[in-house]
Amino acid sequence: MSSEKTNGAAWPAIFQPLQFRNLEVKNRLFRSSISGRFDNYDGSGTEVRVAWDVKFARGGIGAVISSNTPVHPRGLIVPNYSHLDSDDKVPFYVELGKRVREAGAKYIVQLAFSGRQRDIPSVVYDKGLSSTDKPDPIHGFPCERMTRAQIAEIVDAFAQAARRAREAELDGIEIHGCNGYLITQFLSPAINDRTDEYGGSLENRARFPLEVVRAMRKEIGDDFHLQFKISAIDDGKALFPWAKEGTTLEESIQVCKWLVEAGVDGLHISSGFVFPHPRNPAGSFPLADVIRSYDTMLSSGKNTFRNYLMFRTPPVNKGFALLWERRARKLGVEGINLELARAIKREVDVPVLCAGGFQSASVIARAIESGGADGVTIGRPLIANPDLPNLFQQGHDRAPKPCTYCNKCLINFVESPLGCYEQSRYSSREEMVRHIMSVYEGAPLPSEVK
Ligand SMILES: Cc1cc2nc3c(=O)[nH]c(=O)nc-3n(C[C@H](O)[C@H](O)[C@H](O)COP(=O)(O)O)c2cc1C
Ligand code: SF4
Repeated sequence: MSSEKTNGAAWPAIFQPLQFRNLEVKNRLFRSSISGRFDNYDGSGTEVRVAWDVKFARGGIGAVISSNTPVHPRGLIVPNYSHLDSDDKVPFYVELGKRVREAGAKYIVQLAFSGRQRDIPSVVYDKGLSSTDKPDPIHGFPCERMTRAQIAEIVDAFAQAARRAREAELDGIEIHGCNGYLITQFLSPAINDRTDEYGGSLENRARFPLEVVRAMRKEIGDDFHLQFKISAIDDGKALFPWAKEGTTLEESIQVCKWLVEAGVDGLHISSGFVFPHPRNPAGSFPLADVIRSYDTMLSSGKNTFRNYLMFRTPPVNKGFALLWERRARKLGVEGINLELARAIKREVDVPVLCAGGFQSASVIARAIESGGADGVTIGRPLIANPDLPNLFQQGHDRAPKPCTYCNKCLINFVESPLGCYEQSRYSSREEMVRHIMSVYEGAPLPSEVK
């Protein structure tokens, strides 16, 4: 696909507003949840996060979806991400939402709970809470099966965080219901092994997310934007050929219908029963970067020896990388989830967003015009080119130096600041470092929110 300029009015499908029941977004481009470890260890936010999110608003995106924001200290996925778990965090979010809006975009906060899946351990808690007591298949972090009382506590934590999002005058909420975190751990028959009313049939597995939606609606009322990010399929076999298939598209369509009935205003389609997963973010498995950065994670769970072999030791790691890249080779990265989104969109009457590899205006316009999705969310291509929407607006089809889907940003963010680590996109290593470090160049917070 070329990066040549075409007629500036070439993408009317992209630059038309998207109307949800309770929110209008100026165009069809959303920044997907991506963030580095930019905040304080206690879950309070910093000016670095503000600078990070504002950067994409300035680049012309219609709405910024925050990175995963824990609703409870025991639900953090990786330390140094800001939380919305207590009322004293509200002033920071008031400021953050205001700055993003002033820069031209809406701000949607993604409320999340890790469950058994995390990136690295935290001193805050030892064992994850999950639908099961079986550890996650990648790191092997220990977890305990939630009791009914714990389920009720976490449902309430989601609802209180939603209330805070409204009090902070944000533009909406996304429930992180995908990619292997707590809600997937309930929805997926490959993970959820409960025998009570939260496990077994689809109706039972969907009970927890539906309780979360209803409890949130009680707190925020019916007139505040609420969307749900779901993994349309587990695709367990993409990672482990012996894995159970897990959630099917047909099951997800039914769950989406129930979510809409319960009060969800929009759906955001992802895939994969763990994170990361060969479909999400799809692309390369950057072995050199994995060997360098995986040390922090290697001894986190009970799978240390297996992972040492799988990720660090040739030729086993080369075999694993080939397995990883199989899905992307077969399906193509750009729009990898589009047919899943299309199938869901046919069955629901709320706007549907699609995640996965989008970075060509022509592909995005076709996705919208052909009824595959109402809008797209973009992650890595915006890390590489934060001003991609402005480039589209000027008539470009692609950025001159597009994202290569190398996944080096993903692998590096646990130890180093999030940014684009693909050196081939820069004239020198120094330029790459300047680009990565630019997020630390000021967006000072007023003293009352520090
Ligand atoms: C560094 C990094 C962090 C991410 N964090 C989140 C997250 O907090 N919540 C989430 O739902 N997805 C997260 N994702 C997934 C992205 O939001 C996005 O859906 C995925 O990367 C596919 O889109 P892309 O191909 O445009 O990057 C993350 C991805 C990356 C690379
Ligand atoms: S490191 Fe850069 S080029 Fe590679 S996937 Fe991330 S943003 Fe794209």
